[in-house]
Amino acid sequence: MCGIIGYAGKKVAAKVLINSLRRLEYRGYDSAGIAVLQDGSINFSKKAGKLHVLTDELKRFPLEGNIGAGHVRWATHGVPNEVNAHPHLDCTGKIAVVHNGIIENYQALKTMLIKEGHKFVSDTDTEVIPHLIEKYYKGYLLEAVRQAVKLLKGSYAICCLHASDRKRMVGARCDSPLIIGAGKNENFFASDAPAILDYTKNVIFLNNYEIAEISKNTIKIININGKTLSRKPTRIKWNISQAEKSGFKHFMLKEIFEQSNVVGDILKERLKNNKIHFEELAIKEKVFKGIKNMAIVACGTAYHAALTGKYMLEDLAEIPVWVDTSSEFRYRKPIVGKNTLVILISQSGETADTLHALREAKKRKAKTLAVCNVLGSSIAREADGVIYTHAGPEIAVASTKAYTAQLAILYLLTIYIGRIRGVISGKTKKKLLKEFKKIPRLLKLTLNDFKSNKNKIAEYAKNFRKYYLEKHNKSTFLYLARNINYPNALEGALKLKEISYITAEGYPAGEMKHGPIALIDENPWVVCIATKAKIYEKMLSNIQEIKARGGIIIAIATKGDKEIASQNVNYVVKVPEISELFSPILVAIPLQLLAYYVAREFGYDIDQPRNLAKSVTVE
Ligand code: G6P
Repeated sequence: MCGIIGYAGKKVAAKVLINSLRRLEYRGYDSAGIAVLQDGSINFSKKAGKLHVLTDELKRFPLEGNIGAGHVRWATHGVPNEVNAHPHLDCTGKIAVVHNGIIENYQALKTMLIKEGHKFVSDTDTEVIPHLIEKYYKGYLLEAVRQAVKLLKGSYAICCLHASDRKRMVGARCDSPLIIGAGKNENFFASDAPAILDYTKNVIFLNNYEIAEISKNTIKIININGKTLSRKPTRIKWNISQAEKSGFKHFMLKEIFEQSNVVGDILKERLKNNKIHFEELAIKEKVFKGIKNMAIVACGTAYHAALTGKYMLEDLAEIPVWVDTSSEFRYRKPIVGKNTLVILISQSGETADTLHALREAKKRKAKTLAVCNVLGSSIAREADGVIYTHAGPEIAVASTKAYTAQLAILYLLTIYIGRIRGVISGKTKKKLLKEFKKIPRLLKLTLNDFKSNKNKIAEYAKNFRKYYLEKHNKSTFLYLARNINYPNALEGALKLKEISYITAEGYPAGEMKHGPIALIDENPWVVCIATKAKIYEKMLSNIQEIKARGGIIIAIATKGDKEIASQNVNYVVKVPEISELFSPILVAIPLQLLAYYVAREFGYDIDQPRNLAKSVTVE
């Protein structure tokens, strides 16, 4: 949802900015721009379209200067064209601003500024910011920004330049992420850490209503009242290769193939001598003992992990759990109080709806626990406790490894809570962990089966495209599953929608007879998750019901399952055997790969699907 970057150092700013914007492009890709300070004036370049359009322009018309700001946009106010692209300037052309977020009172501010004689050129909410800074500028940019942001309502992370200040730039944040990268003879502002990993791993996380000024050798942070704050950098563990494609055609494919290591690392980090460690958790055991119920709140893929968490927690920790999408939770009256634990799951830790759901839960006195991937993210910092998934940077918009990492953490958390509450015995815990420890190896096996084409999912995707074209683009997908794999049916459908733009629906298989069965003729392809399970036979009955109506079936089954062969399904992919409880992590792989290969067949931009953004920092 827009990515911003600021640089002050000795290098050619434009090169650094473009390099960093490449790593931020997953946040928005409908237009891009940079501004640099050069010989006492602001020079800028902006273009509609993906980042490469801007880089081509900069090859023709390079920009010099060692200090500057850049932006990749995901349009909210104003269509994605060149005028609406960032940076935005004030009337004098001396102030340039890049912004991530939404200024909710921009209309009122714009009316006021126009009355005062300011001229606007774009349809964006952002443009009020440079004009406000212009209004308050009395020779000191930091102070002008401080005055300006006091008037803003909504969310913002901004980087600002002033032509008269050749050495410094200013950033500020409220509800949109902004970090400072502390380098050697260079400092940065950035929306997130991967943007600056090429240059430094030392970051300072800015809090809401903080404003900072950086030059190549100095960092100054103040609060909204002008008080100087002291803040030490944190060293982040991510490395740059994690943010590269490393020979894979797409980030999504790379991230799918990373999953055995991601889950393996989680086990290594969290399990020592069969004891579960959540060092950063900061919620006392007695809190877990005292809670009466739990809510898990999240968006998108994280919501599907949350749904799976409900099955785990109710089954093993024997505690009532309900699950909500963040946007629903925050706007109704959720019945949560001091005896409720609200878990917020978010890869980015910045999703606006989840952040506001967290605040709502806190307002209602519930205990809050964040499960996040991004270190120091807003949700991670505002919750009472946090568990990091440590899956490394996830760049593809469609989430894959963050999902399985969330599932892995939820398994461990379930066992941890179940133990504290005395409903999981030492013996059961040992048994569960023994099973869990098989997963990294089984994930590797599953991935290898696809790599070596033992599981021919790429071929099925090819067949689907042929079929789709024959049916005049009318074909759709239905995903069915039962019990703990039902959320995987939703996730499989979501993956396909996100990157293939094909209508797909996920349903609990038992509900098929209450509606979706009406859709079945020879048109939809039906993915049936039919791995070994308590109610496996019921899934086989569903398969027969679909067959009887001419549906085309891809079954996901367990290796060694002989029965599935007799079901006469059209296609089968097999995953290794594991207990039903842990099967969702393995089943996720063919679902992700099916979506990937279908999108590839259609030639879509897999890592940057249309209209989506990785981190949704607006409502
Ligand atoms: C967006 C992304 C999804 C993600 C969802 C929640 O919609 O495209 O991949 O699952 O946001 O994001 P979060 O960072 O909160 O997990």
